[in-house]
Amino acid sequence: MDHFPATSFAQRIGGARFGQETEIYKFEKIKRAKRAARDKHPEVELLDLGVGEPDEMAPAEIVERLSEEAWKPENRGYADNGGPRLKEAAARYLERVCGVRADPETEICHSIGSKAALSILPACFIDPGNVVLMTVPGYPVFGTHTHYYGGQVYPLPLLEKRSFLPDLESVPADLLRRTKVLVLNYPNNPTGASATRSFFEEVVAFAHRHRIVVIHDFAYAGLVFRGSPLSFLSVPGAKEVGLELHSASKNFNMTGWRCGFVAGDARLVRAYASVKDHTDSGQFLAIQHAFAHGLDHPEITQRIAQKYARRMDLLAEALGRLGCPVRKPDASFFLYAPAPRSAITPQGEIAFPTAEKAAEWLITERQISTVPWDDAGAYLRWSVTFSARGEEEERRVIAELEKRLADTRLQWK
Ligand SMILES: Cc1ncc(COP(=O)(O)O)c(C=O)c1O
Repeated sequence: MDHFPATSFAQRIGGARFGQETEIYKFEKIKRAKRAARDKHPEVELLDLGVGEPDEMAPAEIVERLSEEAWKPENRGYADNGGPRLKEAAARYLERVCGVRADPETEICHSIGSKAALSILPACFIDPGNVVLMTVPGYPVFGTHTHYYGGQVYPLPLLEKRSFLPDLESVPADLLRRTKVLVLNYPNNPTGASATRSFFEEVVAFAHRHRIVVIHDFAYAGLVFRGSPLSFLSVPGAKEVGLELHSASKNFNMTGWRCGFVAGDARLVRAYASVKDHTDSGQFLAIQHAFAHGLDHPEITQRIAQKYARRMDLLAEALGRLGCPVRKPDASFFLYAPAPRSAITPQGEIAFPTAEKAAEWLITERQISTVPWDDAGAYLRWSVTFSARGEEEERRVIAELEKRLADTRLQWK
C-alpha cells in the first residue's frame, strides 16, 4: 500500500512515523492537565504559575507608537534585514544599559524574536558531525535545528551546587575538537540563575582557546532585581567570539509582536543576516520602530522587573513557609524550586518519584499549575507571571496558593 504523503516526510521529523507518535510532550501534557482541572472543578480558580510569558500588555506608549507608525506608507513594505532606526536604538541601548559599544550598521541586525534567531543560527555553523554545547535544562530551539543539520548536542547540566553555571571543563577533549558553538542563557530559563562576570570571563577564555562561537540568549536581559543587566558582550574579548540575542518579548511585554536583535562580531552578524535574508523578509517596520521606542526607554523594563521582584518575595516566602528550600533569584520571572518528594494529606502519603509527578498532583488535586523539570534533578518552575491586577490581587493569589496546601505536609527530604 502506498502511504503517501507519509513516505515523503524527512527523517529529521520522524520520516513515515511522523504524526503517529504516542508520546505526549511536557508542555502539551500541562495544557491538557489544565483543561482537565478546569472541566472537573469549574468552580475553582486555576492558579497558573506555569506560564512562561508576561501577564500584561505592552505599555501604552509602545502601543501608541505602533499605531502611529502603522499608518505611515513608508513602513508598509518588506523590511528585509531591517531599517536603521531599530539598529541605532539597539546601539544606544547596548551602550547605555549594557556598557557595550556596537556599530549599528555592521554589528547589529534585527530578528523576528529570539526563537527565530535561534532557529536560523545553526545554519551558519553546523555541518554534519559538529557538536553544540547546550545547558540543560534549557530552551531547546538551537539544539533541535542542530539535529536537523546532522549535528550533535552535548548537554551541560545546570546544578544547584554550581549556582546553575555549567562546568566547561567537563567536556571531553575529543568532543571539544568537533565543537563549534556554546549556547548560554542568563538570566536563565528555567533556573532563574544569573551569570557572574568571572564566569563570563572563563567562557571567553574557553571560547578563544577552543575556537568556539558563543551564542548568548539574553531574552531576560533587563529583568534584574539587583544590580544592572550583565551582557556577555561587556566582557573583554567576548565580541570577537560571540553573538548576543536580545528580545522585546519579556523586556517590554511584547511577546506576540515578534521582535528582537542580534549583536556581536561583525562577521558573525553578517552570517546571521545572510541566512536570515533567505529565511524571512524582516519584521514590520512599525513594530521595529515601536521596539526602538522601548529600547530608548529602559525604565519600562525596570518597572516590569520591580513588579516581578515584589511577586517573587511573596512567592518565595510562601513556599518557604510550606517547607520548600528555595531562595529568591536575582533576575527573571522564574522561581526554580526543588520538587517535593511526597505529600502527607489527610488521606495518606503520596510519593512523587519525579518532579512531573509532583506537578501532576498539584494541578489535579490543588488546581495549581507549575512546570516540572527532571533533566538535572527534580525541580518545579514557578512563574510570577500569574495573572493578577495590582498588589492586593497578587497577595490574594499567593495567600490562596498557601491555603490550598494548608492541609498537606509537603516533604522535601
Ligand atoms: C530562554 C529563552 N530564549 C528565547 C525565548 C524566545 O524569545 P522570543 O519571544 O524573543 O522568541 C524564550 C521564550 O520563552 C526563552 O525563554
